[in-house]
Amino acid sequence: MQKGKRFSIITFGCQMNVRDSETMRSILLKRGFEEDKPENADIVLINSCSVREKAEKRAKIYTREFKRKGKKVIFAGCVAESEKDKIFALGVDAVLGTRKIHKVGDIAISLLEDRKIIEVGFDEIPHFDQVPEPTHPVTSYVNISIGCDNFCSFCIVPYTRGREITRSFNSILSESKELLKKGSKEIFLLGQNVNSYFDETTGYDFADLLYNLDKKLEGDYWIKYLSPNPRDFSYKVFKVIKESDHISFWFHLPLQSGSTKVLKRMKRDYTKEEFLDLCYVIREEFPDATITTDIIVGFPGEDDKDFEDTLDVVERVRFDMAFMFKYSERPNTPARRYKDRPNTPARRYKDKIPEEVKDERLHILIERVNTIIGERRKEMLRRRFIILTEGESEKFENYTRVKTRENIKGVLKGKFEPGKFIIGRVTEIKGHTPFFEFERFCDYKGV
Ligand code: 5AD
Ligand code: SF4
Repeated sequence: MQKGKRFSIITFGCQMNVRDSETMRSILLKRGFEEDKPENADIVLINSCSVREKAEKRAKIYTREFKRKGKKVIFAGCVAESEKDKIFALGVDAVLGTRKIHKVGDIAISLLEDRKIIEVGFDEIPHFDQVPEPTHPVTSYVNISIGCDNFCSFCIVPYTRGREITRSFNSILSESKELLKKGSKEIFLLGQNVNSYFDETTGYDFADLLYNLDKKLEGDYWIKYLSPNPRDFSYKVFKVIKESDHISFWFHLPLQSGSTKVLKRMKRDYTKEEFLDLCYVIREEFPDATITTDIIVGFPGEDDKDFEDTLDVVERVRFDMAFMFKYSERPNTPARRYKDRPNTPARRYKDKIPEEVKDERLHILIERVNTIIGERRKEMLRRRFIILTEGESEKFENYTRVKTRENIKGVLKGKFEPGKFIIGRVTEIKGHTPFFEFERFCDYKGV
């Protein structure tokens, strides 16, 4: 036990990293370390993201800063896996890969004895038995799979999180039960490609997983999930969601590009028309659903016509939220591999898009998407929604942060404890934020 030694975790990137940080935090607390601000910590743990170059750079800048300040630094996460030698050369004390996070306790103790450690690689089956103490007041992240087998040509994830491994239904069920017991109101299922889920023991696919969680977990809660691949949505999944009690009518469908030509190069396995058809089906089957997306501009070979196709999809689908990025070339990904790299097809794209063109396209896209989001939010005015309280708003005094079952974030007038389901009426929209007024308390279904 390490009484009196302090740690701090800085997390970059996606929910998968948030969940990994929660796991590592719980392990360190159990081993007797105490959590504190980075400036007071003996050990700073940086959980890095490598999906775009900018995030990677930020993690490296922090590392240098904390090393200068004399801290022990554990560098974990996706960059640790893909760039272990370079990271070690920065002078960090330990490099911890994405599938080795369960070792963080031993590593932290060894560091205090001035040892240097690298733990990376995909040779171990990940430990799913660590149920972290929730750090969010109402939402709990639950891994249903880790890694990815899709190898989209822009994406570094298969190289930083390894090949896809799915977790057994029983393990997901028991962790979710425990989290609900601890007061969680929202079970957030996590996987790089959730709808390729398959559990060999039970024979459950993603639809069966949703169906059985919905039926077997008791209490007041919602189920949300991230991220599905548009290619893999099935009629069976829609049917389960439609007939379920707890599953959110929120569909995050990463478009990436609206051009069939670019999608083919990205290895996404769907066309513009197939994506649009999927969205039309959702709009028809779930009139109140929100559809959100991720879009990349400036992938090699994207010409004006291709970008127009992306804008066209944006206009037709009218997304409720979008994460938009400039293409960032990532090491080892198929889109940038060199001929002399062993065992990799030479698919390096030379027709790169100049930075100014990427900037301009991103700007046009953001403007367009923001206008549409504004219009979509206005459609919420004067309507009632089931909302879940999350905590005090920092931006608006005397307001509580809330989200709808369809995952639209907003604020509710007054101060309410986290974890309450409420019927709220939208009285105003400021920017993209709906302002709710309290009508009555209810359960997760609005009853
Ligand atoms: N460049 C830009 N954006 C990327 N994403 C993934 N890889 C890259 C890259 N190389 C985006 C995708 C993905 C989201 C999590 O990050 O849109 O859906
Ligand atoms: Fe990356 Fe594609 Fe896998 Fe998502 S589905 S993690 S974008 S390779």
